[in-house]
Amino acid sequence: MSSKEAKMIIEKDFKISEIDPRIYGSFIEHLGRAVYGGIYEPGHPEADENGFRKDVINLVKELNVPLIRYPGGNFVSGYNWEDGVGPLENRPQRLDLAWKTTETNEIGINEFMKWANMANAEVNMAVNLGTRGIDAARNLVEYCNHPSGSYYSDLRISHGVKEPYKIKTWCLGNEMDGPWQIGHKTAEEYGRIACEAAKVMKWVDPSIELVACGSSNRAMPTFAEWEATVLDHAYDHVDYISLHQYYGNQEDDIANYLALSLEMDDFIRSVISIADYVKAKKRSKKTINLSFDEWNVWYHSNEADKLIEPWSVAPPLLEDHYNFEDALLVGCMLITLLKHADRVKIACLAQLVNVIAPIMTEKKGKAWKQTIYYPFMHASNFGRGVVLNPLVSSPKYDSKDFTDVPYLESTAVYNEETEELTIFAVNRSQEDSLSLTCDIRNFDGYSVVEHLVLENENIKQTNSAKDSPVVPHKFGNTVLDSGIVTAKLPKLSWNVIRLAGKK
Ligand code: AHR
Repeated sequence: MSSKEAKMIIEKDFKISEIDPRIYGSFIEHLGRAVYGGIYEPGHPEADENGFRKDVINLVKELNVPLIRYPGGNFVSGYNWEDGVGPLENRPQRLDLAWKTTETNEIGINEFMKWANMANAEVNMAVNLGTRGIDAARNLVEYCNHPSGSYYSDLRISHGVKEPYKIKTWCLGNEMDGPWQIGHKTAEEYGRIACEAAKVMKWVDPSIELVACGSSNRAMPTFAEWEATVLDHAYDHVDYISLHQYYGNQEDDIANYLALSLEMDDFIRSVISIADYVKAKKRSKKTINLSFDEWNVWYHSNEADKLIEPWSVAPPLLEDHYNFEDALLVGCMLITLLKHADRVKIACLAQLVNVIAPIMTEKKGKAWKQTIYYPFMHASNFGRGVVLNPLVSSPKYDSKDFTDVPYLESTAVYNEETEELTIFAVNRSQEDSLSLTCDIRNFDGYSVVEHLVLENENIKQTNSAKDSPVVPHKFGNTVLDSGIVTAKLPKLSWNVIRLAGKK
């Protein structure tokens, strides 16, 4: 087998930024089997007294997800949060127009907060700026975060929740630029309502942080103008602008597919430029950061979704079965997010359970890990600390839509507290392994802990409840000698090279 050569120089002091743990966030929407039949399945052998599946919670905990966006997504734009609180027998069954399903409201805010707490995650709560607006938004903040002595805080207490949740991060609606959105708005309309909702939500609780909707993806015809207009209106009242992006390999062009993280990189750079343009225009001292609050691969389930019976309860919508190449792209996307940790402070893998998810469940059966579970788990567990700016040189290729795609996609994270240095690396080559030489100069006394590798002979290989052929192994080939790390990265592979100092 032939090999290509790549080099890295990793210098302790070349820091991009401290990583905000919230970049390892995820997302649960009232959609398909994410909630009902996903996190919640009363009667399942693994269900606890609340009906929450313990096997699912354990898999979520392994992912170490610090933040979960809820309850949507497109769903939130038609959602009355009041439907999901209080006695179960009074909760209405509603048509969810976003996904043409029936919402039973068996799970609402209080149940979800309980679940998130068990999963060790905070909640990133979205408010409905589609069918509703400022009033419902400020009432929800009052219900969740005000201690007591007001109508909505006392209502929460009457629902058995004495202490306020102190939810810190809030989304001002969802994808309001999209014609598919319930209550779709122009940038002017959304900019105004986002500004006014943000203002009063912060009057109720000044400690909250707010995310304004950016574009639904980079291909939207209003992209860039949308962000500029929305921020023009809401700049002083919001803290983040959102980005959403999903990719697919519809054309079955692996070289081009694996290069899509370069487009993600460009998207992030563009949104930073727009936010900073508005900052300059306003002569503001405040910087708006980025919340990449929906990202993933999504395309495998598109055809199956057309066959779903309308108005079903929790049908199997958006159940993508991910293959090995999807895991490689997810790895490249994680590295891209890390490279922008100075401005991307929140990111949510969309979604978490059953719906375009790393975790799948069988009714009355097993919970299992998709291929994309592994790169996310590795990054979330080992990618904590400071992201460094290594000097990388790699051979490159051209694909249908990209030029100069590096075969090596990589970054390095230094955890000062635990004295750990982790190199994340994807080899995009379909033919050759990459011989990586990495100069780690001032990491004196470090040694190799392990080299995790996700590889598979079959790029289209998936996992299932019965069988998991795509799992990482620990037999990566890394040696550290006199400050030089040498590693062989197999063709088409995700690699995690873990090094540690003497403690
Ligand atoms: O994550 C699935 C859907 O994708 C979300 O509901 C929506 O925000 C996006 O279009």
